Amino acid sequence: MLGWKLKLPLNFLYRKLRPFLFAGDAEKVHERMLSSVEFFSKIPGFLPLLRQQFIEDNPLLRTELFAKTLQNPIGLAAGFDKDGRIHPALFALGFGFVEIGTVTPRPQDGNPRPRLFRLLEDKAVINHMGFNNQGAWKMAERLVANTLKIKSADAEIFELSRDYPANIDSGMLGINIGKNKDTTLEKATEDYVSALSTLHPFAEYFTLNISSPNTEDLRNLQEKEALRILLDAVCTRRDELNRNHSRNTPLLVKFSPDLDEDTLEKSVRVLQEFSIQGVIASNTTVERPTLKSKHQTETGGLSGIPLQKRSTAMIRTLFAELGADIPIIGVGGIFNGADAYEKIKAGAAAVQIYTALIYEGPGLVRKVKEELANLLESDGYKSVSEAVGADH
Ligand code: FNR
Repeated sequence: MLGWKLKLPLNFLYRKLRPFLFAGDAEKVHERMLSSVEFFSKIPGFLPLLRQQFIEDNPLLRTELFAKTLQNPIGLAAGFDKDGRIHPALFALGFGFVEIGTVTPRPQDGNPRPRLFRLLEDKAVINHMGFNNQGAWKMAERLVANTLKIKSADAEIFELSRDYPANIDSGMLGINIGKNKDTTLEKATEDYVSALSTLHPFAEYFTLNISSPNTEDLRNLQEKEALRILLDAVCTRRDELNRNHSRNTPLLVKFSPDLDEDTLEKSVRVLQEFSIQGVIASNTTVERPTLKSKHQTETGGLSGIPLQKRSTAMIRTLFAELGADIPIIGVGGIFNGADAYEKIKAGAAAVQIYTALIYEGPGLVRKVKEELANLLESDGYKSVSEAVGADH
């Protein structure tokens, strides 16, 4: 569209802006960011301009995930855009895939504030948000509206049907679903089935979040019998919807890094009984390795650098169990291309980022991609998939 390219020094600008952002309450800053990006995204021309800054992938990064081509294997992790408010802008930042949610069937407030803490000295975050979200119906409504507005702003013709493709860019849109706080564990299955049914037209994959430490007992769903009951119901419903609407929506399970190896292996055996297309490792941890920041004693899930080694070890265990049959999405403490590469070589087919985005800003996506492409190239790989599990 524009004949020239103005490449802003984003990393530098974010570093200058960061002291001001970090002076405010972490959750308020995040909310203000969401509202501003949502507002700007409605202005015609904003998203194309953003895209021009960020999307410029080395063909080496192109990869297959769930039988679709991604421009790159770098995704946004769940929890950043819980209600699907700004995913078009997130695609414009250059993510190959974006996971929105966790969304529950009914809206809920989440845990009392403050519930989000930056651990600056540790390059980490502790959160005990508790699935604050506007509910599955609101998300569905917004996904329809967003798509309509963006399509018309970009003057493209499209047809809206129940099965219209959710993603309007080249990226893949995943939806992460959970259960409401006031739903008992015995009835949890109904919540997952309900959220999946409401959002099925929009998701290019679903993730079952059974690993958040901030909803009481949720993580018990990872255990053998509970997991079997959950997967049985959810897979049956997903298969039915896929059949009725000629779709092929993959289903993923997200695990906690706090599972002991024995429980993880048993859970993996259960996954293999069902038609599950992927696993995500990992969610946040309730463990507290040695930390420096004053917020280290806050309750909740820890993410960022202190999670990095643990989540990579988990990817290694999962790859040893699953091989290349079921793709693993690696997440936890990725701050640069080398961190992403390490997880890929441990067995991740693609990776996701959250905490580093808070510390490094939007320029991070471009940086991780450039560094990863250089690392792959210097090791003589022709594609990402060649490097997946190379350590094994
Ligand atoms: C999360 N994460 C998360 N995961 C999930 O499945 N559903 C969710 O709603 C959330 N919410 C959430 C909020 C906040 C503030 C953070 C920091 C994280 C976990 C996230 O998706 C990811 O698994 C971990 O944060 C590890 O990756 P990073 O942050 O170390 O890159």
